[in-house]
Amino acid sequence: MTTEMPPRQHSEAELRSTCERYDQQHLLRHWDELDEEGRSRLAEQIKAVDLDHVQTLGRILERDEEEGRGHFEPPEVFPLERSGQQRELAAEATAVGEDLLARGAVGFLLVAGGQASRLGYDGPKGAFPVGPVTGRSLFEFHARRLLRVARRYETRTPFYVMTSPTNDAATRRFFERHEHFGLRPEDVFFFTQSMLPALDETGRVMMSAPDALFLAPGGHGGVLPALRDSGWLTDALERGVEHLSYFQVDNPLVRPTDPLFLGLHARAGAGMSSKFVSKSDPEEKVGVLGRVDGRLGCIEYSDLPPQLRDARDEDDVLLFRAGNVAVHMLRTEFVDEITRDGLKLPWHVARKKIRTIDEGGRETECHGFKFEAFVFDALGFSTDCVTLEVDRDLEFSPVKNAEGGDSPATARRSLCALHAGWARSAGCDVAPVGEDGVSCVEVDPLLAETAEDFAAGEPRLVEREGGFLYE
Ligand code: UD1
Repeated sequence: MTTEMPPRQHSEAELRSTCERYDQQHLLRHWDELDEEGRSRLAEQIKAVDLDHVQTLGRILERDEEEGRGHFEPPEVFPLERSGQQRELAAEATAVGEDLLARGAVGFLLVAGGQASRLGYDGPKGAFPVGPVTGRSLFEFHARRLLRVARRYETRTPFYVMTSPTNDAATRRFFERHEHFGLRPEDVFFFTQSMLPALDETGRVMMSAPDALFLAPGGHGGVLPALRDSGWLTDALERGVEHLSYFQVDNPLVRPTDPLFLGLHARAGAGMSSKFVSKSDPEEKVGVLGRVDGRLGCIEYSDLPPQLRDARDEDDVLLFRAGNVAVHMLRTEFVDEITRDGLKLPWHVARKKIRTIDEGGRETECHGFKFEAFVFDALGFSTDCVTLEVDRDLEFSPVKNAEGGDSPATARRSLCALHAGWARSAGCDVAPVGEDGVSCVEVDPLLAETAEDFAAGEPRLVEREGGFLYE
């Protein structure tokens, strides 16, 4: 026998007292105007948010913005122009990397939880059709690179894909519709990152509607705890995945199965390693890898003071030239160690225009703060790190913006320039040079990942309207 209050009232009283305790009463300002559905949506959201954590985030806003950043130095790098000894080391490392791939000791970790707001694409960014001839999606480029390794070594290539609650269902549907791009569905694992509320300058949670909090993905740093919480980290350890190859969804040139990077990282016994390209100019919008008070880290372009950004060495080369391409290798046990007791990465605060509601419940826009954790801050936990320089033309051309630099047009041009170059040097035909100065040629990632693979393979030309496809 119970004599409880009706459940809704009970939860309303509880909600009110919770909100009062954390000084977030405004969240229930429109409660009386909401219907049953709106009330339960809002109640669910408030319950799901960790208000203790929100309080901690609010305190970050109270701190003085100008905290000391520490001493920043260029990192030690494994350069693109190599000495004889470095070439030997590279050959040895490549063999180590190939062995790891063949043994199925590598898992692939893709972060695809971002909102693609700059691109303005309606759907998960990975579904964006980037192939210049085939219209192949970013996801397909990535998946087919893994498929190539799976087929070549007759091995498994576990693929861990992080989504956000906003794009999870659409991402899963996209993979299903494309039959996982040939990968075994049981080797593709999805997991979602957590969302965080945006706060106003007084630390109050902002709302996007009378019945909804303004929630945004908490940055790709969430990938490591989310991998653990989802159970896939344990799965990776159990199936003998020794290293995780981490990459972002936006770069169609990325080489997650690069044996050189894998081998250098494994030989060094590193916890976490990074690839970089030399910055094209000081203003380029990439983070810069370097040592912060002796530990490897990355300073975002927006945080790099101009005197460091523009500093040059005696050969007139940018001192801080190691542009972060957001490609890392992580030892699985290292991820296990740093996440075991809860990973504490610093919070980066961004002041952004937020679509919110005013006191009357009407839509409006005002400034608020979003909080993000960045995966490269985990570099600081790793004692040995490899920082490998790679050639931008071969590996980096991300899709960030709808137009201009780092857009679909520049990514397609990079793909064509690279793939036409492979075809030409193997003595194969290429399509006529187009208005953008390149021949429209696309190579199926299943055929080749490098010029050497292309030359060693048996490329079959398919002439398509608009360009040549080699597969
Ligand atoms: C990022 C790097 C920058 C690097 C550049 C290279 C950061 C903060 N900066 O910049 O150092 O030079 O890439 O291209 O990352 N993502 C999530 N969840 C989130 C936020 C992002 O999964 O909550 C994913 C996105 O889906 C995307 C990737 O992380 O795959 C990058 O996010 P984005 O915000 O576009 O980073 P950039 O500012 O372009």
